[in-house]
Amino acid sequence: MSVSQQVFLRDAMRRLNLTRDVFAARIGVKRRALDTWLLPEGSQEARNMPEVVGRFVTEIVENESLLQKYAQSAQSGPLRQRIAVDGKHQLLSVDQFSRESVEELFRIADLMQPIARRQKVSRVLEGAVLGNLFFEASTRTRVSFGAAFCRLGGSVCDTTGFTFSSMAKGESIYDTSRVLSGYVDAMVIRHPDQGSVAEFARATNIPVVNGGDGPGEHPSQALLDLYTILTEFSRLGKLLDGAHIALVGDLKYGRTVHSLIKLLALYRGLKFTLVAPKGLEMPDYILEQVGRHGGHVIEQTHSLEEGLVGADVIYATRVQKERFSGEDLEGYSADFQVNKAIVDQCCGPDVIVMHPLPRDSREGANDLSVDLNDDPRLAIFRQTDNGIPVRMAIFAVLLGVEGLVQHSLRDVTWSPPSHIGPDDSIFHGID
Ligand code: NCD
Repeated sequence: MSVSQQVFLRDAMRRLNLTRDVFAARIGVKRRALDTWLLPEGSQEARNMPEVVGRFVTEIVENESLLQKYAQSAQSGPLRQRIAVDGKHQLLSVDQFSRESVEELFRIADLMQPIARRQKVSRVLEGAVLGNLFFEASTRTRVSFGAAFCRLGGSVCDTTGFTFSSMAKGESIYDTSRVLSGYVDAMVIRHPDQGSVAEFARATNIPVVNGGDGPGEHPSQALLDLYTILTEFSRLGKLLDGAHIALVGDLKYGRTVHSLIKLLALYRGLKFTLVAPKGLEMPDYILEQVGRHGGHVIEQTHSLEEGLVGADVIYATRVQKERFSGEDLEGYSADFQVNKAIVDQCCGPDVIVMHPLPRDSREGANDLSVDLNDDPRLAIFRQTDNGIPVRMAIFAVLLGVEGLVQHSLRDVTWSPPSHIGPDDSIFHGID
């Protein structure tokens, strides 16, 4: 088999839109056996899938693909052309994606997992240089974009903050973008003004990725969030269609939730409960866009208890105080804090708790509580880990090298630790 067993099986489940339980039944194997075939290569309990199962799965998927062929014929061509904006290879908004194209991106992210887990190396971007331009605070987005580019063999040039850039001398976005385009092969930009990254993109023909434009969008974060939800659901035997997603916190200025709810709306029959303090509710233009998809239920509340009952996913966010224009709020009140007690009270044992991070740990902020740190339902670090394969997939697609990755893989020469974090939950490392 040319792709890894894990990638092959996950792809098949996604294409057939089946949970692990149903997929195992469909191919006539025990769920436990399927689980061991889905474990990362090299983990102690991982097993090889019998060849006959592989052939059977291929047959089922091929039959299904034939049925889907006509529906998809209108959208042929490489992924980067299908998500292009005015013919340019950019990632500015999740609006560029359909359900099919997002799942195609995730198949590429799956291919990147052995590199992200430090089992393999690749040099498909050797010689390429990334300009990582962050005019706003960032740790994980900037570093993970940089690390993703490096892990594909490229190099990274960084600039952080306005103070040390020529924008402090009054340089325009157009000039900055055009100048940088002469130096680098792709740019990731974070900027405090909504729409500013699109302005950067208009001034260049090299790929531009929106790393967060003020309260606008954060498409790569939403993509890694959706990838995390689908991966966790696959393990838990759940489908995203029909699921209940609770988005909690500053939904007015939080760009991650703006992108995420639009991306989730590509699925069917979701229930969204939007739990925000008064004055920080989700903007109407986003609600209208989600509503246009039809089939979703959106409930808004100021009560955390009410919003969390029966949720499959709780997605908590930080108060974006730096974006306030006249709002009078220091942090969340205590009754807004997602903590173990309220999760136990309102949700089942297989809820997943997410947060784009950083969580505000200062006293009085009442952001996502640390008392869930040892709870396997807390998925925040599995979520951050997923930032690498997803961002690698984004670069591979925008630069047109996704087809070269599989054959470029070589074994790593160093020994990475078996658990990335000392406190990683028992689920960690399970796909
Ligand atoms: C978020 C952001 O910058 O929008 N962080 C991130 O990129 N993971 C969320 C936040 O700052 O609260």
